Amino acid sequence: MAAKSKDTNFRSRSRRPLAPAVPGGPTSRSPAASKDAAGALSDEELAAAVELNSAEWIRLKSRLPWVEFHDDDDALWLFAGDTWPQNSVALARFTPASANRRVGEILAHHQRSKVACNWVVGPVSQPSDVGQHLRAHGFRCMIHCAGMGCDLDRLPQPPPAPKGVHVDLVDSPPALQALTTERRRLRHEGRNAMARMEPRQVWHLVASLDGQPVGETTVCLGAGVAGIYGVEVLEKFRRRGIGTALVDAALRHARALGHRTSVLAATGMGQCVYARLGFREVCKMSFWKYGKMRQIT
Ligand SMILES: CC(C)(COP(=O)(O)OP(=O)(O)OC[C@H]1O[C@@H](n2cnc3c(N)ncnc32)[C@H](O)[C@@H]1OP(=O)(O)O)[C@@H](O)C(=O)NCCC(=O)NCCS
Repeated sequence: MAAKSKDTNFRSRSRRPLAPAVPGGPTSRSPAASKDAAGALSDEELAAAVELNSAEWIRLKSRLPWVEFHDDDDALWLFAGDTWPQNSVALARFTPASANRRVGEILAHHQRSKVACNWVVGPVSQPSDVGQHLRAHGFRCMIHCAGMGCDLDRLPQPPPAPKGVHVDLVDSPPALQALTTERRRLRHEGRNAMARMEPRQVWHLVASLDGQPVGETTVCLGAGVAGIYGVEVLEKFRRRGIGTALVDAALRHARALGHRTSVLAATGMGQCVYARLGFREVCKMSFWKYGKMRQIT
């Protein structure tokens, strides 16, 4: 049965207790985590947390049974071939001397299978000109966006939720789109599986309008902060406050789990929504791609 949370209009359908002690959670021993538990992070720490949390998000997806994971000393990358989740490289920690060779080695693995390679670059990635090495190998920067952070102790009063809209915490998120392709089916299956992984780090929220699912987002705990991912509202239901209600509910859920800080990488469409909810830009995140367009999301 749905347990009503303290926040109005935010119902929980989760059948399991929400455990705060998770890897990279507020009780973890990482410097950012203990600092997060003790007080607000500096902008520099927040910037690092944006990229470290996104790497944790990739690491979790790499636990899906059809995904190959490479946890190299100087980079981590998941490889799913030509399906969901998209192939992703993160946390490059190359030296100026090794960068060119390592980009080439990781890219070669993708080229052999003739699939796209996506590469996330943020403030932690090394060397600082890793983008130049990616460009030299034929990558293009697809999105250069704001990495944002917010203090969950200072959430603004939420705007009234749009009429007929409810935001729920769900263990099995409904699909917003018909599951007509293998890629969509694996995404659906993967998202469900990630919310069942133990210890739990992933929570999905869905927005429904008059009972019909119209929007979704996900909270991923890692690196001592709560990352917000996959904020999406179906196009014809946008610009009526549903995205704001979803993210607000996600932030309140992260806070209820004991977290004090949230991070995300904002697209242009989302940035104003997040700023109104208390997020501020702390860094830039770049999403590079080699290969065809299909694996962009
Ligand atoms: C980003 C996204 C989730 C926002 O969802 P949304 O439901 O449209 O969000 P909201 O309605 O809360 O806010 C969007 C805008 O509508 C405005 N708005 C909200 N309620 C409104 C209303 N009743 N009447 C008119 N405008 C309204 C908001 O002020 C906001 O304006 P701004 O962006 O110019 O500042 C949605 O555009 C989307 O799914 N985009 C594609 C995926 C994407 O980019 N996701 C973000 C990943 S970081």
